Amino acid sequence: MRTFPHFIELAVTLSLLGVAFAAPNCTPGEWIDLASIPTPRQEHGTAAIDNTTIAVLGGILNDGDASFSTDLLQLYDIATDTWSAGAPAPYKVNHPNVAAVNDKLYLVGGLTEGPVTPGLSMNWVASKLCYVYDLATDTWSDLAPMPNGTERGSAIVGVRGEMIYVAGGMTVLQPEYQDAVDSVISFNTTSGAWQRLVSAAAEIPESRQHATGSVIGQSFYVVGGRRYGKTNTFDTVFELDLDDQEAGWKVSSGHMPTRRGGIAGGAVGSDFYVFGGEGNPDTSTGIFNQSEVFDTRSQTWLELKPMPVPRHGTQAAVLGDRVYIPGGGLQQDGKKVIGPDGAVTYHNPTTHFDAYCA
Ligand SMILES: *[C@@H]1O[C@H](CO)[C@@H](O)[C@H](O)[C@H]1NC(C)=O
Ligand SMILES: *[C@@H]1O[C@H](CO)[C@@H](O)[C@H](O)[C@H]1NC(C)=O
Ligand SMILES: *[C@@H]1O[C@H](CO)[C@@H](O)[C@H](O)[C@H]1NC(C)=O
Ligand SMILES: *[C@@H]1O[C@H](CO)[C@@H](O)[C@H](O)[C@H]1NC(C)=O
Repeated sequence: MRTFPHFIELAVTLSLLGVAFAAPNCTPGEWIDLASIPTPRQEHGTAAIDNTTIAVLGGILNDGDASFSTDLLQLYDIATDTWSAGAPAPYKVNHPNVAAVNDKLYLVGGLTEGPVTPGLSMNWVASKLCYVYDLATDTWSDLAPMPNGTERGSAIVGVRGEMIYVAGGMTVLQPEYQDAVDSVISFNTTSGAWQRLVSAAAEIPESRQHATGSVIGQSFYVVGGRRYGKTNTFDTVFELDLDDQEAGWKVSSGHMPTRRGGIAGGAVGSDFYVFGGEGNPDTSTGIFNQSEVFDTRSQTWLELKPMPVPRHGTQAAVLGDRVYIPGGGLQQDGKKVIGPDGAVTYHNPTTHFDAYCA
């Protein structure tokens, strides 16, 4: 954690060197506002790459009441607090599964626009298509697709060394119907092959989508989320010891103080932070403002300072002691919300970008 005098010293040094130093100080336990994303967006994937950049990939853009999937890749440069456009993803994808491995950005499936039949306003279905993005060359390359039958979006993604683990998710999202997946698969970025896990590790204890999670130490954690609907939410923590996969998934005794899905989460050291979410019956927007942290050593939760701009439908990316949360939705999707000016909205993606200082 940086102390105030060091920050001044660093800023002075950098300004003497003629380096623009736009990143504001980060006081532990506080939130900082960062440069807004050029485009309001939600249901995207987020990852930190190259120790310099927060990548925001895919998701949903709005045009009035219409919303559509995007291939947009936007890149935030931490040192200068500025955004630029990267090469678009090879396909339009929402709820993408993304990971950063060795400074590359991996897109391992997600949801795409499926055929819309009469009476069905939207029909998002899983795509198995996988690609990797190299920031140095601003190019995308093909990867082996997810094995037939294992495609999903809105999964929980964990990275350990060369491996990407993909747990849970969903294969279909329609206004009145959504499913939930319990299988766990893995992608080996060295061999370029999808690998199955041993039976004991190949399913989380119960299906989840719109959950969050991460690898901390040698364990892959799957936290919160929901099944089948926005309000069918959970407060659970599932854990798999990746060095002892035969022992299977365990359910922690620690329960998230506020059960929710559509959450954003990230690990700093041995702590796992969870923010926001949708499906809150107690707020007019249907959004949760809760910030909570799980201490993996004591398996206990603590409540933190709420999100100043409560959101769902985004992900968190961690670099150093900051948890970056770009964009997201300001209201529960499809819920009729009447604003202070009397305007009625059903979706409300934002450009807001902030970070929690751990
Ligand atoms: C990013 O930081 C990590 C940890 O300090 C280091 O191991 C890695 O080489 C860095 N990557 C780049 C591209 O600078
Ligand atoms: C996977 O499914 C596609 C059709 O969607 C088919 O063309 C392909 O042969 C299948 N691959 C395998 C390995 O079965
Ligand atoms: C990933 O693939 C490489 C190359 O085939 C192999 O050496 C390595 O053991 C694999 N890693 C895991 C965790 O299976
Ligand atoms: C957070 O949301 C709760 C309702 O879930 C509300 O009671 C509380 O006032 C909010 N806190 C802040 C700081 O906005």
